[in-house]
Amino acid sequence: MAQHKVVVAGCGGMANEWLDYAAQRENVEVVGLVDLFEEAAKKMAQKRGLNVPTFTDLSEALAHTGANLVFDVTIPASHKQIATTALRAGVHVFGEKPMAETLADAQEVLAVANASGKRYSVMQNRRYLKHIRALSSFLAGGGIGKVGALHADFFLGPHFGGFRETMASPLILDMAIHTFDQARFLSGADPVSVYCHEFNPAGSWYAGNASAICIFEMSDGSVFSYRGSWSAQGAGTSWESDWRVTGSLGTALWDGDNRPTAEEVSGDEGFMHPTKAIEVPDIWTGRQGHFGCLDNMFDALEHDRLAETDSSDNIKSVAMVFGAIESAKTGQKVMLG
Ligand SMILES: NC(=O)c1ccc[n+]([C@@H]2O[C@H](COP(=O)([O-])OP(=O)(O)OC[C@H]3O[C@@H](n4cnc5c(N)ncnc54)[C@H](O)[C@@H]3O)[C@@H](O)[C@H]2O)c1
Repeated sequence: MAQHKVVVAGCGGMANEWLDYAAQRENVEVVGLVDLFEEAAKKMAQKRGLNVPTFTDLSEALAHTGANLVFDVTIPASHKQIATTALRAGVHVFGEKPMAETLADAQEVLAVANASGKRYSVMQNRRYLKHIRALSSFLAGGGIGKVGALHADFFLGPHFGGFRETMASPLILDMAIHTFDQARFLSGADPVSVYCHEFNPAGSWYAGNASAICIFEMSDGSVFSYRGSWSAQGAGTSWESDWRVTGSLGTALWDGDNRPTAEEVSGDEGFMHPTKAIEVPDIWTGRQGHFGCLDNMFDALEHDRLAETDSSDNIKSVAMVFGAIESAKTGQKVMLG
């Protein structure tokens, strides 16, 4: 079985999830921890009982440990530097979203990944949930006919502190990437254009725009609409968003927490044609969230396949994010792809 020697870059909150994964996977050995603040790396090593060297510089960590894989759990502003450093050193990267802080940077990272022949796979844990798998397969199987529109509502009011409260577009860049990626996953279509209005409503504790409304045209002719806020307190949605998908034969709903439901047209009489409830069957037998996504990344690496969230695919979700930001800035519809 392939052995993976992993250096973890970034020793903040999210690193714990990745280290939990590493700890339970037989063929993964964590060989070093990196953080800009070495104290953070040392604290993490101590907390997790890891007897490994700590570093402030990734190149040094790679040279010293002989790692063949980096987990990039740094902040978004550091992803480009971490990923390109590792790829140029001939090391695979599994990293947190987003790929970078601009589309040009994400494209540059992708070009470096392609030239290196190494894999760069991106965490999109919110497509590894049994309910979204059920809904995606139901829609792909024509459960409500041809999909015409997908709508996602995301309203939460988290007080993170830290980098998110100072970013220019915290909602779109740090969170909506998940929802946009979920829309691609659910529709099976690619984004064609976006119009976005981004704003920071009264009462927001973010410096940047914590709310946005976006309209995407998709390659199959469907439309994806998104309404989101990270400064909406009370009556919150789930972190997976609250979804409504309308098709030529009916409607599917998913609140992000519970099993999706659907109704299909059951007759052709009357002002409003009758509908009946239909089941959205469970199909997913894998693990969920980060573990499910990391299972897919490792499985792909070990079988020389592209992970579902390989950077060559993820760039399409990234393009939705930066297209939305550009549209918000220019007030114009932006063509994607
Ligand atoms: N997939 C998800 O559901 C999910 C949830 C939360 C966070 N995230 C992502 O995880 C990443 C980390 O988030 P977090 O909440 O752990 O942030 P955090 O601020 O708690 O931790 C980030 C750590 O990275 C370190 N760091 C920054 N630049 C570095 C560099 N160049 N080299 C080494 N270390 C560096 C910082 O010092 C800090 O200790 C972000 O990209 C975030 O968007 C994803």
